[in-house]
Amino acid sequence: GLGTINIPVVVHVLYNTDQENISDAQINSQIQILNEDFTASNNDLNQVPGEFEPVVADVNVTFTLDQVIRKFSTKTSWGTRDAMKDASQGGSDAVDPSNYLNIWVCNIGGGILGYAQFPGGNASTDGVVISPQYFGDQGYVSAPFDKGRTATHEVGHWLNLRHIWGDGRCRQDDFVADTPASDGPNYGCPSYPTVNCKSNDMTMNYMDYVDDACMYMFSEGQKARMRAIFAAGGPRAEFR
Ligand code: ARG
Ligand code: ZN
Ligand code: CA
Repeated sequence: GLGTINIPVVVHVLYNTDQENISDAQINSQIQILNEDFTASNNDLNQVPGEFEPVVADVNVTFTLDQVIRKFSTKTSWGTRDAMKDASQGGSDAVDPSNYLNIWVCNIGGGILGYAQFPGGNASTDGVVISPQYFGDQGYVSAPFDKGRTATHEVGHWLNLRHIWGDGRCRQDDFVADTPASDGPNYGCPSYPTVNCKSNDMTMNYMDYVDDACMYMFSEGQKARMRAIFAAGGPRAEFR
């Protein structure tokens, strides 16, 4: 195996209001949550139902904050077309995406918590974007998305994970065998069992759409899919 893979992180804070210029403490709270969630050391892991306990995964990926770039902007919302990643559009250019996870923290608008780019895409737009009030678990945060799980979810996409329902009906796959089929996202805080497609949904998976407090695991199959992209010749091989 590849052992522990450490990901150096660059956080770009693009702010219009003082609130959006989130504190170092808020940024550090998010880095800590990523570290907990990707090493199965989150303190809510004990809520996983017995059915799914055998497939709970320690992904064995860690995160280290390398640099915070702060920039005032006259823009009050940024949308989802990557303007925040481009200095010529008032954003902040990605820093060496082969060797750093770039996270842009800026108001996306439209009620969107975050979005991500899958591995293998354009280097200049590689990374994840998260609105400030859904980043970390202290400071300028907004319930029920105030436990830092938006970044966990988006970094899951950045590491090649699909939503657990495969973004389609029962037969649409997420390319992970141990996440049961489902026909759509779950929201809020579903009770167990939640049955769709004749199996119990893994609603507590980070790649569903539930509230932050109700998602607390990755599966072994997801771990294998994520770690595969770090192999020699893979799209994130340089992080090893
Ligand atoms: N809607 C976003 C996406 O599909 C993020 C969902 C995050 N969910 C959460 N509970 N924080 O990428
Ligand atoms: Zn998603
Ligand atoms: Ca599956």
